Amino acid sequence: MELRGYLHALRLRWWLVAGLAVLGAVLGLAAYLLTPAVYASTVTFYVSVPPTGGGSSATSTQYAQAKVSSYVSLVRSEEVARRVVADQKLTASPSSVASTITASAQLNTTLLTVTVQTGSPERSATIARGVADTFGPLVDELDNAGRPAQVIGVDVVSGPTVASSPVSPDLKKFFALGLLAGLVLGALLAVLRDLLDVTVRSSTTAAEVVGAPTLAVVDEDRDDRGRAESVRQLRTNLAFLRAAGAPTSGAEVVVVTSALGGEGKTTTALDLARSFAETGERVLLVEADLRRPTLAPTLHLEPGPGLSDVLAGQAEVAAAVRPGGAEGLSVLPAGTVPPNPAELLGSARMADTMGGLRSTYDKVLLDAAPLLPVTDAAVCSAVADGVLLVVRWGRTSRSEVAEAVVMLEQVHATVLGSVLNGRRLTRSERRRYSSDPSAFSWSPTTPEHAG
Ligand SMILES: Nc1ncnc2c1ncn2[C@@H]1O[C@H](COP(=O)(O)OP(=O)(O)OP(=O)(O)O)[C@@H](O)[C@H]1O
Ligand SMILES: [Mg+2]
Repeated sequence: MELRGYLHALRLRWWLVAGLAVLGAVLGLAAYLLTPAVYASTVTFYVSVPPTGGGSSATSTQYAQAKVSSYVSLVRSEEVARRVVADQKLTASPSSVASTITASAQLNTTLLTVTVQTGSPERSATIARGVADTFGPLVDELDNAGRPAQVIGVDVVSGPTVASSPVSPDLKKFFALGLLAGLVLGALLAVLRDLLDVTVRSSTTAAEVVGAPTLAVVDEDRDDRGRAESVRQLRTNLAFLRAAGAPTSGAEVVVVTSALGGEGKTTTALDLARSFAETGERVLLVEADLRRPTLAPTLHLEPGPGLSDVLAGQAEVAAAVRPGGAEGLSVLPAGTVPPNPAELLGSARMADTMGGLRSTYDKVLLDAAPLLPVTDAAVCSAVADGVLLVVRWGRTSRSEVAEAVVMLEQVHATVLGSVLNGRRLTRSERRRYSSDPSAFSWSPTTPEHAG
């Protein structure tokens, strides 16, 4: 996936990213509340070496600095802890006291900072006071004992401090970490969901899988404005295909079908039929989905015979064709649901009927059943010039579409192209669309350009 694909996935699933970010922040806060507070007390020592007659003050300072580094370890020793326990009359064991003490030497100085961290400000201060009281005498014993003059001096220059607020947990840090972890996880999931998505979500993918151009991308229908524009595009692109080499005698007969049910065959066929009629052509929309007819109730047709009745020899075509509610548009509804739809659609009478209709109309569109569950649409395509495959954006899987195409190839049908129906726009795309629909104008994607 390219960067644009990632960004689109993020924008489309911003709620996932935002939701996990909020959750992360809440968990960060919970962790903050559950983490015991730690209070620090610090005491700073100044380590000095009096200049002796022979040495310069520079060497004295170097000597003191070298000493400070060894005091960093010394101050954390059990011996210091033992003295602190005795000095402050503590009940804790020396090793547990030692574990609360850390020390650091400030670079290029002879300052030694000792930090004590415990769960209570008073306890930290008590231990730090113990260190302040006992560390000087200990150094004196170790470094000066038995020498004629004092070699080294350790004096408290600041502290011990008493903390008014804990050093950890840090609310800001916990909150920020939680938020960040949530954001990252949300973004990963949003992108991963797209990477693992096997449905068709782009005109390029559709063209690739179908092996024929994507003639239109129809957005999910929020307002009718968006769909009308894409249907016009579909009509134009189909007209180009015809000019490029479809049979020229009589009407062009096109089957509209899809791999599965509910992908938008009827919606697309009806939209397209109306669109052709708008250009002044005589258009017939035939409901060839004999199993689940929906056209009669959609168009509020009077009850009467339909295609199945004509094919069964129960009615004349002329009696079954009705006005379609728009200038130039006629419809032939499915009629009575028959027990053997595939047989009727593959009958010689079907071929005859379509032959007759070709001479009466400029365009005949067949709204067929889905391809994968039943053979009806494949059978229909034998009497048609081409097939328009509707693919529902984000719902039909690539393999289902590919299977449908194989079924059409087996009956040597001409797949004119596909319609990617029901594309969901991100919020910003919708906003951009409503301010400038032409920004979304779109040209057919052919398999050669796919990739
Ligand atoms: N572009 C679209 N945006 C939003 N909803 C759509 C769109 N196209 C179709 N639908 C809706 O999807 C549902 C199925 O559409 P339609 O009946 O056209 O599909 P179908 O392929 O003919 O289904 P069936 O296989 O049952 O005949 C309908 O409720 C329809 O309103
Ligand atoms: Mg339908």
